[in-house]
Amino acid sequence: KSGAADLGGFPHFMLKEIFEQPQALRDTMRGRLVLDEGTVRFGGLKSFEERLRSLDAVTLVGMGTAGFTWLAGEYAIEELAGIPTKREVASEFAFRRSAQSKQGCLIAVSQSGETADTLNAIREAKRRGMLTLGIVNVTGSSIAREVDAGIYNHVGPETAVASTKASVSQVLLQMMFALYLARMRGLSKSEGQTLIKEMQKLPTYAEKILASAGDIKRLAKKYKKTENFFCLGRKYNVSSALEGALKLKECSYIHVEGGNIAELKHGPISLIDKNFPSIVIAPKDSMYEKNKSSIQEIKARKGLVIAITTEGNKELAKIADTVLYIPKTLEMLTPILAFIPMQLFAYYLAVERGNDVDKPRNLAKSVTVE
Ligand code: AGP
Repeated sequence: KSGAADLGGFPHFMLKEIFEQPQALRDTMRGRLVLDEGTVRFGGLKSFEERLRSLDAVTLVGMGTAGFTWLAGEYAIEELAGIPTKREVASEFAFRRSAQSKQGCLIAVSQSGETADTLNAIREAKRRGMLTLGIVNVTGSSIAREVDAGIYNHVGPETAVASTKASVSQVLLQMMFALYLARMRGLSKSEGQTLIKEMQKLPTYAEKILASAGDIKRLAKKYKKTENFFCLGRKYNVSSALEGALKLKECSYIHVEGGNIAELKHGPISLIDKNFPSIVIAPKDSMYEKNKSSIQEIKARKGLVIAITTEGNKELAKIADTVLYIPKTLEMLTPILAFIPMQLFAYYLAVERGNDVDKPRNLAKSVTVE
């Protein structure tokens, strides 16, 4: 049983694990990035290299947070490696007659390695003759044993029910895996090196975000009585929006709708008024102008906006009610940083509202029933 000693001076495991993220990112990359060659090495995949070279389709499965991380992975594998990639909620995989390629692989993402829905998807994929891979944190877990080959997160035990350090590691591993596949398929060494150099900066960037935890704590005090939020983004940051919404729901018990901000005008915008704030992930990237105009639409309907944008972008401070900053990085790496302020917001809201932060009501750390 874990006690005060394991908390290392933090009031809760969730906060401790949020602050362990710079180290978790370092541990995820350790021994795997090969800067000279602009590529990534995964020990566990070595004997499958030939098969991975001829891969023609990727299906990513997971549940909850692990599932939301594959939204970013899907974009990255297609963008870097050009392999048709789709994500599927693990629970649905076995029950859907989707068209599979025998040359394809299924990648299961799971922190615990014990999630029944995800395990079920792996078993079905094997029946269909697919190669199965896992991105798993717990060594020797059921999923780690069931898949043909795997990549471990190496972020150490995650005790709080709400996943934090495992989730940023899951996104990073998917970006690393995308690069690994891309370098087998013609992505240049120098493009690979650019990506690796940015990955190496992520732990320091995460430290910088954590240093602003006090601002987010104050923000949580301000919003503690709010009963509804939107959490919205586009492209890679639809992943962040869904993950941010889940984190807020499970820790603060506030109703949060997460999703693609482009959908807002097709219906959900009717909910916006002065009591229904939106968190918008809007880094300075290819989707910035579109995100900005969506923020303006929300403001025109008297909605409050908390924007998460790139350091140095002063423009949103004139439009949004509050702006949180993340360091500038490559577009595909932004979710790794954008997750962090939302984890902190969820944590401090839960504390403000007197919730059982590490063990939210009705939840278990691993869901071993279908
Ligand atoms: C995350 O905060 C949740 N507690 C939950 O969604 C979790 O990610 C999901 O149950 C999947 O768990 P796994 O990663 O252990 O498979």
